[in-house]
This record gives sequence, C-alpha cells and structure tokens, in this order.
Amino acid sequence: MTDSTVGNHRSLKGKVAIITGGASGIGEATARLFTQHGTRMVVIADIQDQLGKQVASSIGIDKCSYVHCDVSDEDQVKSTVESTVEKYGQLDIMFSNAGILSSSEQTVLELDILGFDRLFAVNVRGMALCVKHAARAMVERGVSGSIVCTGSVAASHGAKARTDYCMTKHAVLGLVRSASLQLGEHGIRVNSVSPNGLATPLTCRVQGKSVEEVEKVYETFARLKGVLLKVEHVADAVLFLACNEFVSGHDLVVDGVFVPSSSTTTTTTTTT
Ligand SMILES: NC(=O)c1ccc[n+]([C@@H]2O[C@H](COP(=O)([O-])OP(=O)(O)OC[C@H]3O[C@@H](n4cnc5c(N)ncnc54)[C@H](O)[C@@H]3O)[C@@H](O)[C@H]2O)c1
Repeated sequence: MTDSTVGNHRSLKGKVAIITGGASGIGEATARLFTQHGTRMVVIADIQDQLGKQVASSIGIDKCSYVHCDVSDEDQVKSTVESTVEKYGQLDIMFSNAGILSSSEQTVLELDILGFDRLFAVNVRGMALCVKHAARAMVERGVSGSIVCTGSVAASHGAKARTDYCMTKHAVLGLVRSASLQLGEHGIRVNSVSPNGLATPLTCRVQGKSVEEVEKVYETFARLKGVLLKVEHVADAVLFLACNEFVSGHDLVVDGVFVPSSSTTTTTTTTT
C-alpha cells in the first residue's frame, strides 16, 4: 500500500524555516522557492539588514521576515532560533547557508591566520551553531525537522589556493555526517548541498568581475555543457533535501560534473 505522504515530496505546506545568508545569492533564491512551495514562514537571518528587509518584504511580510543574526555569535544564533519558535510555534527547516570566501588567493605558504580565523568563525563555527540550536529546538518539540548546510565542491577536492576556505567546507561535511548520525534517532535529517562555482554577489565581489565574466570563468569548471549553474539550480536541490523524508547524511553535489583541474590552474579561478 502506498503512503500518500510519500508522493507529496515537494510540499513545504505550513512549515517554518530559517535561512541564514538569505539576504543574497543562494539563500535568497531558496527563500523565494520555499515560499512558492508553501512554507508558512521563512525567516531570513543575515547581517545585511537593509538588503535582508528588502528581500523579505518583496516576498511578502506575511510569508517572510528578516532578523539580524551574525552566525558566528552563539547568542545571536540561539536568540534567532528562540524568537522564531516563539513567534511561529516551531522550527521545521534550518538552511544553514551563510558563508564567506577568503579575501586573497593565498597558498598554505602565505596563509593569513587572522583571515583564517574569521573564515572558520563564520563557515565552521557558524554552521555548527546553527545545527546545534536548530536541532535543540526540534528535539525539544519532537519535530522531525530537516537541516541543510551549504558545502561546496571545495568540500571534496583540494585546491591550489584558498586553503582556508577549502578546509572550512571539508569541515561542513564532517558536521553533516556526524550530526545526521546523532540526530537520526530524533527523526531529524541533516544533509548538505555542494554547488560548483557560480556567479553570486560573493564571487563577483571577490573576483572583482561582472556576473557574465564570473559565469565565463565557472563555465570551465563543469564537464556538462550548454547550461550555466544558477542560484535557482542550487535552491531546487535544497528544496529536495528539505522535503525528502528518507535522505539523510547526504552531500548533494550540484556541479555538472566538476573538473578538479579547472580550479587549480590559475589564481583567479579557485574553487568556491
Ligand atoms: N557562489 C559560489 O560559487 C559558491 C559555491 C559553492 C558554495 N558556496 C557557498 O554558498 C553559500 C552562499 O554563498 P553565495 O554565493 O550565495 O554568497 P552571497 O554573498 O550572495 O550570500 C551569502 C550571504 O551570507 C551572509 N553572511 C555572511 N557572513 C555572515 C554572518 N557572519 N552571519 C550571517 N550571514 C552572513 C551575507 O551577508 C550574504 O547575504 C556560502 O556558504 C558559500 O560558501 C558558494
């Protein structure tokens, strides 16, 4: 006999989600897609207040709200989760997506350790804090929730530059694999989405290039031709992970078959 809920695999009807880094790029696209798929409320948690508020109001104040939250600060993450539960009754989905990129293309020989610490504070400590506090809220209320973290193709490959960024994304996979093992007994799923390089405000800013120029760079990162990776492709993978009830501990790469050598040949095209 078929369980009718199994077929309902792309519905987020009535769900409450937090999306960190939701003011821009992949997070913003996911906030829009989640809303189209029926979420009751998406809370965008970011540090770009003006932009975050604009995105939330463009989606609709009855469906999306904005909260200032620096994910590297435990108090801010805890209070974002608590205020979400208090206002909207529960937390079903945490998309822990906020991340930054190293500002320079250093190899391990020139590693800037202050930059390294900041990168780890956001990309690793921030990710762990979001998983910790989201999971606690879900366990306390008996919610079989879904947690998705943003990894990268850099989580599974070495790179000739931006060692620190590559290390942070490897750490995300360790977090997802461990948390999925530990939280399974509570019915909580933990997965990651790992995009290939794509043009977002992050990569355009760091490379000092236009969207078209960055897309040209990243075109060479995929064996798949005829299509450019867009934020909507990544958002669609996140939607799948948020909805599917039996996928956990999985890293879903959205990479068009990543070409590892592409990110290791020049200094301006390092893997993100
Ligand atoms: N763009 C790419 O090529 C690419 C590839 C693989 C993985 N990623 C990952 O995707 C995620 C999203 O990046 P994007 O490309 O959409 O970039 P983006 O800059 O468009 O979005 C990232 C968002 O995170 C927010 N943010 C940064 N630091 C924060 C903090 N301390 N607390 C809360 N929010 C913070 C930013 O304000 C921004 O709104 C990151 O984790 C990034 O590492 C990006």
